[in-house]
Amino acid sequence: MNILILGSGGREHSLAWAVLQNPKCDRLIVAPGNAGIAAIADCASLNINDGAAVVEFAEAEAIDFVIVGPEAPLAAGVADDLRAAGFTTFGPSKAAAELEASKRFTKEVCDAAGAPTAAWARFTEVTPAKEYLRKVGAPIVVKADGLAAGKGVVVAMDLAEAETAVDDMLGGAFGDAGAEVVIEEFMDGEEASYFVLCDGLDALPIGTAQDHKRIGEGDTGPNTGGMGAYSPAPVLTEAIAARAMDEIVRPTLAEMVKRGTLYQGVLYVGLMIKDGAPRLVEYNVRFGDPECQVLMMRLGAQALDLLQATAEGRLSEARVNWADDHAMTVVMAASGYPGAYQKGSQINGLGNLSASSAQMMFHAGTAENDTVIIAVGGRVLNATARGATLQEARDAAYALIDRVDWPEGMCRRDIGWRALK
Ligand code: AMP
Ligand code: GLY
Repeated sequence: MNILILGSGGREHSLAWAVLQNPKCDRLIVAPGNAGIAAIADCASLNINDGAAVVEFAEAEAIDFVIVGPEAPLAAGVADDLRAAGFTTFGPSKAAAELEASKRFTKEVCDAAGAPTAAWARFTEVTPAKEYLRKVGAPIVVKADGLAAGKGVVVAMDLAEAETAVDDMLGGAFGDAGAEVVIEEFMDGEEASYFVLCDGLDALPIGTAQDHKRIGEGDTGPNTGGMGAYSPAPVLTEAIAARAMDEIVRPTLAEMVKRGTLYQGVLYVGLMIKDGAPRLVEYNVRFGDPECQVLMMRLGAQALDLLQATAEGRLSEARVNWADDHAMTVVMAASGYPGAYQKGSQINGLGNLSASSAQMMFHAGTAENDTVIIAVGGRVLNATARGATLQEARDAAYALIDRVDWPEGMCRRDIGWRALK
């Protein structure tokens, strides 16, 4: 089978790494990829948000199966274009990708489905938005409706902060994405993510994870795309996961069927858990990054079979074979991230790292410049490992970090602290 993966991050490196372990994979191309991916697969430069260009490329390369990594091509309808051209494709349609691309859409679906989530209201004008803020009071959460690269959410601890967020968003700080704001009840509890494959009608859970969004140790400082993750998430017990499936995921899929927008792909279910009850924080329509890295580390070769069964509508016959294991990924970022950071610094020592089915340095933001690996993004490397316990996985992940020679890089030393203490 010839396989094409769209994307260029650590998520796509881990997908490529898992897919290559499956004997069904004859040829793998990742577009555009990165320096780490280029070491294991062919990379091709391609505008992955341009459906016509992706279809043309897939035809020229005789691709049998396409896996779409990030949300941008999904929100742009690239999966629809591929399917219309006859390609088996993993990832939701543009209409179904609204579950990530529009906060209001998700809230409406939850209400119709009776899925537990924060109380909410939506606004396009500053005055009524502020009246609502004053009525409800802080803490309160203000969100830009559309895709804002993870920056469109303000969890405001006081009213002044919430009002500033409304002014910024409706004032155009996020362009069209903020032309409408959703104001939400603040939910207290512990967050965890649940990953569920969906083929429209059937749903198959493939793991739980927790990530660390803050840049600083002890989960302090500004928000990032995620500084590390581990799987499974102890807080998402079997009983809570079963409730999340029954009360949130299945009703959502049924509502999507009712609307004629079947959801096919992975549903990233962001949950807030309190007193044993899960409530929905958000959906994403793709794997989390870096959560994908720990899921792929645990699933290995079977990931390809599962993604293919999803895309072909055969999930009812699919099974996940679980090892009773744990995985952790630790992100190395360029110093300064998530603020301004330097690009182009040289990373040494990557060539000598051990790689196995239980330990792998995934690349997120790297490029190769004359045989030298350089950092080209904020989050740059993902040291990932699995073991019989989370402690074992942690030690193996940090062992990779400790062999990297990159003075301009940084990482948190406390990934997994909640689960390890
Ligand atoms: P989102 O992009 O919707 O996932 O929001 C980003 C982060 O903001 C989440 O991971 C939560 O940590 C936080 N957040 C979002 N909505 C709420 C809420 N209603 N209550 C508390 N925290 C929230
Ligand atoms: N790590 C969070 C995300 O992928 O959205």
